[in-house]
Amino acid sequence: MEHVYISQVGEHVGKEIKIKGWLYNKRSSGKIAFLIIRDGTGRIQGVMVKKEVEPEVFALAREVTQESSLEVTGVVREDERAPGGYELNLTGMQVVQMAAEYPITPKEHGVEFLMNHRHLWLRSPKQHALMRIRSELVKACRDFFDQQEFVLIDAPILTPAACEGTTTLFETEYFEETAYLSQSGQLYMEAAAMAFGKVYCFGPTFRAEKSKTRRHLMEFWMIEPEVAYLEHEGNMELQEQFISYIVKKVLDNRGEELEILEQDPSKLQKVVPPFPRISYDEAIDILQQQGADISWGDDFGGDDETVLANQFDKPVFIDRFPTDMKAFYMEPDPERPELALANDLLAPDGYGEIIGGSQRIHDPDLLRRRMQEHDLPEDSYQWYLDLRLYGSVPHSGFGMGLERVIAWISGVPHLRETIPFARMLNRLYP
Ligand code: 4AD
Ligand code: MG
Repeated sequence: MEHVYISQVGEHVGKEIKIKGWLYNKRSSGKIAFLIIRDGTGRIQGVMVKKEVEPEVFALAREVTQESSLEVTGVVREDERAPGGYELNLTGMQVVQMAAEYPITPKEHGVEFLMNHRHLWLRSPKQHALMRIRSELVKACRDFFDQQEFVLIDAPILTPAACEGTTTLFETEYFEETAYLSQSGQLYMEAAAMAFGKVYCFGPTFRAEKSKTRRHLMEFWMIEPEVAYLEHEGNMELQEQFISYIVKKVLDNRGEELEILEQDPSKLQKVVPPFPRISYDEAIDILQQQGADISWGDDFGGDDETVLANQFDKPVFIDRFPTDMKAFYMEPDPERPELALANDLLAPDGYGEIIGGSQRIHDPDLLRRRMQEHDLPEDSYQWYLDLRLYGSVPHSGFGMGLERVIAWISGVPHLRETIPFARMLNRLYP
């Protein structure tokens, strides 16, 4: 008999098919058993009537435990009331493995318990919705850049030096040397942009941040485009087009998942260019007016970002930060050199910074000076300086944190559910 995935049963109405999956849930009485079966592509209810099957089969249906793996046969029937629109009239069933008592039950479990059972928690409908949205977003990110002739260039993960500052590096032995897990692929993308013009990388990045907030992971995925001859303004336009594109893809293709997550699509439909822009100076004014204890030159805390973002119903750009608080590689504003041509993009609803971007210094002398001011070892960065000696041009790029975007789009409060196996301050298991 033909094995059919649950998502495809609609093409087999009236026919007997086989489904291979796991038991999600069941109810039974003396005469009839309802088995909800999932196979990863969906869920379907199978109805088994005692007098229509062998007695052993009906007995098995009554015994089979939650999450047992099984293969069932049945005839597909259209049923408007059924969740996916179809039901199966079961004709047979084989248990592949009878599952031990499953620890995750419909009752409320604490988050620590669920995170300790993340390997099983991934089977739950809400986690499915989140992972499918994640998968959709990864594809949308790649499609956006691929369609514009960007080249995907993978950055290394083991690196000799810091990109975003030395305080959050994970260190590891590299034979006789010390290596660090990459905080960002940016510096390598700059090399690649000088070779290919428009490039991006997409991979895991690592930050040893001793912060235990809902917005921080130790290992997160970042997509980082870098474009030669692109300046600050154009960089921000690229960001708003990009974010609008990927949000639309989720709206178009993952409506069902948003519904499972009880996320109102009308909020996301507003995410179209142009996004509002405020300068860092204006942001400080707004925060001071709201009574925040912050002065010019300070970085925003999570709460500050929420106050700023709450003024708008779309993501908002914060433009031109003080050079001193930002990374060494940022191009100064020619009109106000105390400011960097750098922006953050803050998501609505308290999700904080989803993008950090900037124009990069292209002048070798200025870059060398900045590296000295930041006490960076010149030999580790020699190659990066080299780029400024051979056809240096203005260039810009940005990094978008995938998990923060998933959290915002999905409306889940904490990043831990947006990545299959979260790495956090107090968690390296499972
Ligand atoms: O602002 P960041 O530090 O920028 C960079 O790393 C640049 N080198 C990127 C570039 O221009 N190519 O980080 C970029 C984004 C942040 O806006 C945020 O979305 C995310 O990465 N991010 C984190 N996400 C989860 N957990 C953390 N600990 C994160 N740190 C940054
Ligand atoms: Mg940043």
